[in-house]
Amino acid sequence: MTSFIISDRELDHIKGQVVIITGASSGIGLATLRRIIKHGGKVFASDLNPLPEPEASSVPFRKANVTSWKDQVELFKAAEKEFGTIDHVFANAGIQPVTSLMEEDVDENGDLLPPKLDTLNVNLTGCIYTVKLGIFYLKKNPKGGSIVVTASASSFSRLPATDYTAAKHGVLGLVRALYGRLYPKLPIRINAIAPSWTDTGIVPRDFLAQLGEGNYQSADVVGRSVTVLMADPQRHGEMIYSDKGKYTDLENGENGYHALTLKMLNVEQDGDFLEMGAFKGLMKEKEEAVKVG
Ligand SMILES: NC(=O)c1ccc[n+]([C@@H]2O[C@H](COP(=O)([O-])OP(=O)(O)OC[C@H]3O[C@@H](n4cnc5c(N)ncnc54)[C@H](O)[C@@H]3O)[C@@H](O)[C@H]2O)c1
Repeated sequence: MTSFIISDRELDHIKGQVVIITGASSGIGLATLRRIIKHGGKVFASDLNPLPEPEASSVPFRKANVTSWKDQVELFKAAEKEFGTIDHVFANAGIQPVTSLMEEDVDENGDLLPPKLDTLNVNLTGCIYTVKLGIFYLKKNPKGGSIVVTASASSFSRLPATDYTAAKHGVLGLVRALYGRLYPKLPIRINAIAPSWTDTGIVPRDFLAQLGEGNYQSADVVGRSVTVLMADPQRHGEMIYSDKGKYTDLENGENGYHALTLKMLNVEQDGDFLEMGAFKGLMKEKEEAVKVG
């Protein structure tokens, strides 16, 4: 675990680079868009809702529902057409929890209804779609680039928001699983942000009022953490937790979550795990099963 500050100078390295953002019309996505543009970067924005002004008049935008693979394919095509190349992708769109699994809702026969999967579909499946497209497009960029996903403090805590917490654990899992497959084998870095309570559209106003001023942060605090993950070419496999304006990478360092994993796998670095004979055998079986199926 490493705590740090983020200087404006570090963010200036985003100058001239092209970033696709999902969920760009509000909150963390919009604050990140503004941060990137302030430091000379270029954004291709996407959301279900249009961008507000003044960005609506100046930032290229395509409406896309992240749960639709087709929408996201068209989004990436449009961004490439606009800018020619893509340097970074921010998989950020998200919604609030919709189910606790405690409901006893029934159909006309009195049978228990299945849980609503909206939050898993947007916050996890939508993110997986963006990441797959991100890898595909960043491979085409000879300089490579990076992907940032929006995890959450609920990615590692017991926040009792069943579907939301499960989805955000999945988002962190995605970063951990892809870490060893990407950089440095491919020039594609992957990182996560894990904001604590942040003043955005997703958090009810009365909840923020209960927390009280000083106990939550502005969306720009989070936007800075996203921008530094893109701008700094050394950052890979990080999860920047931001809380009341303070930044900590929870994954790396002596007391980071990652140190525990290495001990469990009995390897020096997780890239080594991919080279282990037993792991290769396991993946080969899976790949062959896919071919047969
Ligand atoms: N605000 C917080 O305290 C907090 C903390 C941790 C993580 N997050 C995460 O931050 C991300 C951004 O949320 P926010 O807090 O800025 O809230 P927000 O509601 O202000 O912004 C979310 C944006 O995502 C868009 N969106 C929702 N569903 C979509 C879909 N299916 N396709 C495309 N766009 C869609 C919305 O239109 C909205 O513009 C989310 O992933 C959220 O889970 C927020």
